Amino acid sequence: MEIIIQPTAEAASAVAAEIVARLLCEKPDAVLGLPTGQTPLLLYRELIRLYRKGQVDFRRVTTFNLDEYVGFGSKHPQSYHSFMREHFFRHINISQKNVHVPDGMAKNIPAFSVRYEKMIRAAGGIDLQILGIGADGHIGFNEPSSSLASRTRIKTLAPQTRKDNAKFFGGENKVPYHVITMGIGTIMEARQCLLLAFGGKKSHAVAGAVEGAITAMNPASALQVHPTVKICLDKSAAAGLQKADYYRWVYENKPAWQKNC
Ligand code: PGA
Repeated sequence: MEIIIQPTAEAASAVAAEIVARLLCEKPDAVLGLPTGQTPLLLYRELIRLYRKGQVDFRRVTTFNLDEYVGFGSKHPQSYHSFMREHFFRHINISQKNVHVPDGMAKNIPAFSVRYEKMIRAAGGIDLQILGIGADGHIGFNEPSSSLASRTRIKTLAPQTRKDNAKFFGGENKVPYHVITMGIGTIMEARQCLLLAFGGKKSHAVAGAVEGAITAMNPASALQVHPTVKICLDKSAAAGLQKADYYRWVYENKPAWQKNC
């Protein structure tokens, strides 16, 4: 795991954007796995800026989102379809046919989930999976106790996650209970993972994921056995890491050619 600690969320997001931009330069038809939530907003903003400057091109890129709320159609204002359109897709030159977000209205969720996995495989697999992390260590919506080998499926949100997401819904009672999410096993098949975490609320989960034992009780800890993981943190999210100075030292002393790629 490569732990990249930056002073601010803006600086950490700029590093993350550089990693994405480099990939798209090397592989213009890359497949990206994308998250929603507060965390990736600065990254999306930076990628939009780079696109406007002509430094990234999404024309041949394919995307798969991690998750969606059950019962929300693509036009629902709180759906992750809407979130992605609003915060990213409508600002870039991605082709709509290359965009995939789980179908919250799927009548048969298990059958849809199998299809989603097949679509990922048919696209050649995910080159770079971008991830946020929940305060409980969830990645995607794989809540604690999710199998580390899980695949795309329905999940019931933990009470804390519903509380954390209440701000997006104008009240906890409006937050759905169920989601469709890629599994941890699905995420682990991506060729590279890039996890972002900002703010002190994430520091406990981040410390567990990076320096704790691998456990289903902190789903992000599964990334310890992924061969290529980068974790971009701001100072507050890194506050629980015992080896923060070591990670900073390693990042500062990498050969220039190896940075952010
Ligand atoms: P957040 O959520 O970015 O809104 O904090 C992260 C997550 O739940 O993965």
